[in-house]
Amino acid sequence: MIKIENLVKCYDDVVALKGVSFTVEKGEIFGLLGPNGAGKTTLMEILCGLRRLDKGKVIVLDIDVSRRPDKAKRLLGFCPQETLLYKYLTVRENLVFAASLYSLRSREVEERIKFLVKFLDIEEILKKRVDKLSGGMKRRVSLAASIVHDPKIIVLDEPTVGFDPHVKREFWQFIKQLHEDGKTILLSTHNMEEADELCDRVAIMDSGKIVAIDKPETLKRIYGGNAVINVKVKDFHMEKAEKILHKLKPKRENNELKIFVNDPWKLMPEVSSMLFAKGVLAEKIEVTEPTLEDVFINLTGKRLMEGVN
Ligand SMILES: Nc1ncnc2c1ncn2[C@@H]1O[C@H](COP(=O)(O)OP(=O)(O)OP(=O)(O)O)[C@@H](O)[C@H]1O
Ligand SMILES: [Mg+2]
Repeated sequence: MIKIENLVKCYDDVVALKGVSFTVEKGEIFGLLGPNGAGKTTLMEILCGLRRLDKGKVIVLDIDVSRRPDKAKRLLGFCPQETLLYKYLTVRENLVFAASLYSLRSREVEERIKFLVKFLDIEEILKKRVDKLSGGMKRRVSLAASIVHDPKIIVLDEPTVGFDPHVKREFWQFIKQLHEDGKTILLSTHNMEEADELCDRVAIMDSGKIVAIDKPETLKRIYGGNAVINVKVKDFHMEKAEKILHKLKPKRENNELKIFVNDPWKLMPEVSSMLFAKGVLAEKIEVTEPTLEDVFINLTGKRLMEGVN
């Protein structure tokens, strides 16, 4: 569906993309996960024919985007990082305007608006001016405007950045629904939870390069490091517990014992019964599995941006 080959883009002395290659299959949700400045927006803008590339190739459904940006644009719906809506127009006027860019027939426009209003539950705000809307509602309208022409591929640049968890989850449902309806989706995020929850495959990006591409589970298995079994016992039992579990090389941290293993769920009941057999009752035994954040740290030595989401 999308084929990106050795893409290079420079802004004066900044090399924003340093030879990026990947493909996105039909019906996939593909994620670009990377911190500020990784090159996510630049890549998406080039893909959507909004920015020129310096080197490489971008093919969308057999169309070379550099040669036929007009044709490619019809296949793609781009929902940018900063919502591009006319704030003094109503929601409906914005949607009609967005549709006018794709020379749809007026009946088609009405049908699409009707569908989108229902899908995104925006009936009540249809006559409201955009500058009167909440951030979450603006995002819904922005999504509606970007897919008004019913594109096969939907490109979402940081779709939920800055939203509270509830609004974020609501928006995830819209993305999942579009996926179920057969759309191919490319999204960028620096939220590892979002990438994990939504994406079939994830490309980890850092400083203009892709450092790994795979399914979230595979990335976590290969690059995430060990899972941890956290064991909490009463303070006066701590040393005894350490002795009982010494073969598992527990590390004491903040009044807990941490055991680093590959297969935590298999070992967890054993840990519990080893302690119990010697009269030590665990107050808590908990497993922490590796996240995409751990994958990012292990691959780049840096953290993903924290506190942004
Ligand atoms: N119009 C521009 N002119 C000059 N440099 C730019 C321009 N746009 C982006 N850059 C630079 O290119 C690099 C990649 O930026 P880009 O916006 O693509 O990253 P990003 O991954 O989308 O980051 P963010 O998570 O902050 O949105 C950064 O170093 C940025 O400063
Ligand atoms: Mg960006």
